[in-house]
Amino acid sequence: MPEPALKHLLSVDDLGGRAGIEAMLDLTDSFVEVLARDIPKVPALRGKTVVSLFYEESTRTRLSFETAAKRLSADTMTFSVSTSSVKKGESLLDTVHTIEAMGIDGIVVRHPCAGAPHRVASWSQASVVNAGDGRHEHPTQALLDAFTLRRHRGPSLDGCRIAIVGDVKHSRVARSNVKLFDALGCEVTFVGPPTLMPERLDGWPATVSYDLDDALVDIDVVYLLRIQRERIGQALFPSVREYAARYGLTSERASRLKPDTLVMHPGPLNRGVEIAADVADSTRSLITEQVANGVAVRMAVLWSLLGSGGPVI
Ligand code: NCD
Repeated sequence: MPEPALKHLLSVDDLGGRAGIEAMLDLTDSFVEVLARDIPKVPALRGKTVVSLFYEESTRTRLSFETAAKRLSADTMTFSVSTSSVKKGESLLDTVHTIEAMGIDGIVVRHPCAGAPHRVASWSQASVVNAGDGRHEHPTQALLDAFTLRRHRGPSLDGCRIAIVGDVKHSRVARSNVKLFDALGCEVTFVGPPTLMPERLDGWPATVSYDLDDALVDIDVVYLLRIQRERIGQALFPSVREYAARYGLTSERASRLKPDTLVMHPGPLNRGVEIAADVADSTRSLITEQVANGVAVRMAVLWSLLGSGGPVI
């Protein structure tokens, strides 16, 4: 059997630049078609086993990967820290060796430490997908966001102006998305208070603004980020109310956007903080579509890593 071209997906960098990203998005189209069938399932990964190894809370990413694996007919195993031997002090290395001994082909890893999926990949024969590591990367989120945007603005996203707003400093979504959006020709501006911006932005393909109202003039997409409280040790803004007033996408701010400006958010939302409830539910919002497309994108990724290279069927 030929080796798949992609062994692991740990970072957006693994996708092979614009051509590789576009190929993955094109492949995702085939899986959207599969998901629209009466029986939304193909035998492509029959006989393969995919484990989700989640050391951090998750609703949509975990369910999305598990659904994707099932729709490809793979067997799935779920590991959750709260009910595992991690509570008895087992190390990540021992956990990986234990699950590997059961015979697995793919491991989907989420971990609070940046680089943990890379370590897992170095220890295991299985293909590893990074489902979010600390504040580092979340490549499948970036793919599903670009895929969703491409369906509205595509096929080309060249020149699309995107404001990524909020806690950029602690966000793996911001890091993966800026790379992927840039590779597709978008122009990204990071917006937020200086305390929620990374210390250094040299080499990041984005401009920075500390004023949301300035940044929203003529913008095509407003991409909001949740404040990553779990990664913040000290007070970085005076109060949630003050943050919402200066950096939240309020109804009043949304009413000043161009009629075709789109609103995105990776979830989970804090309604009334980074986004007003009625804006999240408005016709500009792609939030539910992002979740729906997540399954097809993850099918494309798992199929690329674990498939035999045959047709999708
Ligand atoms: C994001 C994450 O976990 O990084 N959520 C997600 O995967 N849908 C963003 C967040 O938690 O704010």
